[in-house]
Amino acid sequence: MNKSNRIKTEKPIPADRAKYANAVYSLVGGKGYKCFVQTFGCQQNEADSERIAGMALEMGYSITNDPNEADLIVVNTCAVREHAEKKALSLIGQYKHCKSNKKELVIAVCGCMPSQQHRADEIKHKYPYVDFTFGTSDLYMLPELLYRRLSGAKRTFVIPEDRPPVVEDIPVVRESNYRAWVSIMYGCNNFCSYCIVPYVRGRERSRHPDAIEAEVRGLIAEGYKDITLLGQNVNSYGRGCDFNCDFADLLERLASIEGDYKLHFMTSHPKDATKKLVDVMARNEHIARQFHLPLQSGSSEILRRMNRGYTAEKYIEILDYIKEKLPDATLSTDIIVAFPGETDEDFEKTLELLSYVKYDMVFSFIYSPRNGTPAATMECVIPDDVKAERMRRLLDLQTEIADSLNAKCLGKTYRVICQGQSKNNAGMLEGRTEGNKILLFASDTAREGDYVNVKVTETHAYALYGEEVK
Ligand code: SAH
Ligand code: SF4
Ligand code: F3S
Repeated sequence: MNKSNRIKTEKPIPADRAKYANAVYSLVGGKGYKCFVQTFGCQQNEADSERIAGMALEMGYSITNDPNEADLIVVNTCAVREHAEKKALSLIGQYKHCKSNKKELVIAVCGCMPSQQHRADEIKHKYPYVDFTFGTSDLYMLPELLYRRLSGAKRTFVIPEDRPPVVEDIPVVRESNYRAWVSIMYGCNNFCSYCIVPYVRGRERSRHPDAIEAEVRGLIAEGYKDITLLGQNVNSYGRGCDFNCDFADLLERLASIEGDYKLHFMTSHPKDATKKLVDVMARNEHIARQFHLPLQSGSSEILRRMNRGYTAEKYIEILDYIKEKLPDATLSTDIIVAFPGETDEDFEKTLELLSYVKYDMVFSFIYSPRNGTPAATMECVIPDDVKAERMRRLLDLQTEIADSLNAKCLGKTYRVICQGQSKNNAGMLEGRTEGNKILLFASDTAREGDYVNVKVTETHAYALYGEEVK
């Protein structure tokens, strides 16, 4: 990527973070300044936003949910599909009036979108009220960028390095006191032909297992019950590192910690999913019975053109092994509909595979061309009406499958974590099973974060209903 817009000063060393945080504190501390963080995108961005909030607190800001009363707005963006970028840009557009109302307001844009040179340029020229941008691997630079800007420096647009360092010890303010994200690695080396992530998050790098274990132990000691290990491809954890610990080893090491908790992880790439990993899951009760294994397409030819590194047959082989060793696990996947050149036959193969596997949940996306990726220049783009028709057929099939799978839950009792009031069902509490199914129930005593035993009394394709069993 073109680095012409790189920060003009020398690249800061991560250890300077605290020094600059103190420097910002000396400017804003005690003045009642507030920071608003808006997050788009995946769990990794949510995890990053919790660190942005942590640094904001360290710098003397309190956190607000209202952008209108903020003195610092940080928009943490996603670039995975066009829609995600449009949403972020439209929101940034709305913050113009906040700046007109409060001249000293600082607006920063970070995350995956401004790590692309063309988006950094666009923000520079079309959004003059944005003070600075930085990428996901430059989180630790926030205090320095803010300090320089508050001290009168010019606007800066930092494009991340291809091989950034792994930075530990960034303070964190977690959104929840029972669910936590733990990044175990950053970046991606896979270059699936449709995907922007390797370009914006840089090369794959893993945290040291000792640092991960210390974080997870701390969380369990604080009473966290649901801990999700994050990486774009957790199955390649530790590759090329000087420690000898692959993902299955890491999982087993973490699952041996005493306590009442479940470990989840995402995302697992099928090409690197091993039987060893499935075996570790099968023998450790602390690992949730849940497997998210993105398929993308049921056609081996499309998979080849997507550069996924596996065939439909190979995928089925590992999935059959998961079903054999973890028969009670919920299964989920991601599907891209209408990849360039996807024929009716290719699409039928995807439907056949969904019918064969019977996933509990399918996250489906219409293919969105991403600037600079190989697929963006592929020919045979699918017409819009065909895209929509394929998506409709996929959703219809999946609704049918989920409906019949959920019907089997009737009468069973699940231990769920209560996640508070349901947004769509007034008076009901929302729980999540270990396999991440939504289970709605009524209770006078359950509070958010509690474990509750709930017996299923009614089932639908996208939710279960039940009553508390004391
Ligand atoms: N690292 C993860 C997922 C990253 S993005 C993995 O490999 O599975 C999450 C999902 O978004 C992907 O699984 C894919 O289904 C979808 N996605 C990624 N790029 C896309 C694009 N250009 N158009 C449509 N969907 C896309
Ligand atoms: Fe994107 Fe593929 Fe990497 Fe997932 S594995 S982040 S889909 S390039
Ligand atoms: Fe989006 Fe970046 Fe995550 S592109 S999906 S926020 S890795």
